[in-house]
Amino acid sequence: MSTDKKTLVVYFSHSGNTRAIANRMHELAGGDIFELQPADPYPPEYNAAVQKAKEELSADYKPKLKAKPGSLAAYDLIFVGSPNWWGTIAGPVRTFLADYDLAGKTVAPFITHEGSGLGNSVSDISRRCPKATIAEGLAVRGSVVRSAGDGVSEWLRRIKASR
Ligand SMILES: Cc1cc2nc3c(=O)[nH]c(=O)nc-3n(C[C@H](O)[C@H](O)[C@H](O)COP(=O)(O)O)c2cc1C
Repeated sequence: MSTDKKTLVVYFSHSGNTRAIANRMHELAGGDIFELQPADPYPPEYNAAVQKAKEELSADYKPKLKAKPGSLAAYDLIFVGSPNWWGTIAGPVRTFLADYDLAGKTVAPFITHEGSGLGNSVSDISRRCPKATIAEGLAVRGSVVRSAGDGVSEWLRRIKASR
């Protein structure tokens, strides 16, 4: 990876934590940013969202997206962000990974969570895009995303994606 590669930050966020990290990453790494939004939004109420996400995960359901990011041909490095939902990526990110061929690209996963860290998200992302190079994942606890201690800039330096 080198700094002159074109980057895309693509992410889903239900309650804003992953969005905050995505925006920071975009600010620091440059390139483009795209928020994945399900056509049918998840319930705002926590327990209802948890229940819906559980059903979707057990069915490996890929919710329809409101809009898609378009061609990814120009990008070499794609940051893929999700909240940790039941130990792995959320449904809209499953849809994105199913709809796009990421062969030959570097995928850098970032996850916000409330204790489970990356969980199975990196191995699940890797399984869903086997021909991509998967960079070290970044896990940020949801409660610290708006503080300076989120580790984003250190991680970008480690995976050599700083501008
Ligand atoms: C449906 C659902 C499932 C969740 N499952 C987990 C989990 O398994 N482990 C965990 O640490 N946090 C879990 N959380 C907490 C979220 O990962 C955490 O709050 C995250 O920062 C939310 O990101 P967002 O604000 O971008 O949606 C869950 C939250 C929801 C709504």
